[in-house]
Amino acid sequence: AARKAYRASIIHSIGDPAEVGLEASYEYYEDGLLVVTDGQIESLGDAAVLLAHLPEGTEVIEYPDALLTPGFIDTHIHYPQTGMIASYGEQLLDWLNNYTFPAENAFRDPAHAAEVAGVFLDELLRNGTTTALVFGTVHKQSVDAFFGAAQQRNLRMIAGKVLMDRNAPDYLTDTAESGYNDSRELIERWHGKGRLHYAVTPRFAPTSSNEQLAAAGQLLQEYEGLYMHTHLSENRDEVEWVKSLFPQCDGYLDVYDHFNLLGERSVFAHGIHLCDDECKRLSETGSAIAFCPTSNLFLGSGLFNLPKMEQHRVRVGLGTDVGAGTSFSILQTLNEAYKVMQLQGAKLNPFKSLYLATLGGARALRLDDRIGSFANGNDADFVVLDYNATPLMRYRMAQAKTLDEKLFVLMMLGDDRTVRETFAAGESVHRRD
Ligand code: GUN
Ligand code: FE
Repeated sequence: AARKAYRASIIHSIGDPAEVGLEASYEYYEDGLLVVTDGQIESLGDAAVLLAHLPEGTEVIEYPDALLTPGFIDTHIHYPQTGMIASYGEQLLDWLNNYTFPAENAFRDPAHAAEVAGVFLDELLRNGTTTALVFGTVHKQSVDAFFGAAQQRNLRMIAGKVLMDRNAPDYLTDTAESGYNDSRELIERWHGKGRLHYAVTPRFAPTSSNEQLAAAGQLLQEYEGLYMHTHLSENRDEVEWVKSLFPQCDGYLDVYDHFNLLGERSVFAHGIHLCDDECKRLSETGSAIAFCPTSNLFLGSGLFNLPKMEQHRVRVGLGTDVGAGTSFSILQTLNEAYKVMQLQGAKLNPFKSLYLATLGGARALRLDDRIGSFANGNDADFVVLDYNATPLMRYRMAQAKTLDEKLFVLMMLGDDRTVRETFAAGESVHRRD
């Protein structure tokens, strides 16, 4: 067997602090060893103990002054918006019309799509993100390009073609029928192939007709293990618009519910302006929310109420939501999440942050039997975080005495420079410098 061992300080989440308490939510080895065989986790423990049992000749790679964690999980991002990140001045609906739709039009060209898919995946890996739930564009070739690039790098990725048949420019719409047929074709080609999964992806309620939302529900019925990925309750004008477009429904979430789009593999981005009944319905259907703080602040959408989701036991993962989000870095996303909580008089503990970035994301995506922690047999997707990444980080770390303090500093000061190396299925896929 192809076996390698990695020696560093190692931490991983094993439970949600909101459910099991902080102390029981993680395992930490100050001088740890992660043993990887054939792309999977073979064992994790104290280096002093495990080194004695390693087969003769096993290569041991050492990372001093570093913290090894599971790869980060981004539960909501748009790869076609890579080139329009940081577009000035608008809130959601004008931002879509003025910047987003024109940028997405370019993905009718497969060569452009392939180029951006490569740039995008390399940027994710530079930031330590090894799995993401990803929007394509309305063009099926955008998804072929994305999955092709993900397959080349052997990454666990979920993506889908946007369904959008109204309230968008003519150059960027499909029909209920063509959207259904194109999705089927992509599902047959990619879903369950290696580490790839397909997500049925209606953009959001305003851009799909009743017929198209019904077709999305039909796809979910016809295939095993498909995801459903869309936006929900992000912006107040959007929420009002949905109410006027679907007067027969009882609010925004009920539109999706009406077309059978809620469920254990359904992930809704944002969910900022939800009432208690909507949270309850998300919880009882096992649906998940992607918390996207940099995007919510950038577009002025509002403040996500994480404690409310915990009370209702709704699964939550973190999303960057690039290009409305302003960073590919899950560390930077945690920095902004912390501030969003502060503005609401709440705290985001660093162990909860670690959970959201890894195991919590894996649970939101129902992939916690493969990724998000170092359980034996899991995919060996992990990152090496550098405590000395920058002069300021080094200086601040020298003052940090406890593990939670060090973690917190990583999350507040960290970004792509913090990620020394990224591994996917046991192979190095990014190395800094
Ligand atoms: N709602 C519908 N489409 C989008 C999008 O592309 N980005 C964000 N942030 N919200 C949306
Ligand atoms: Fe989004």
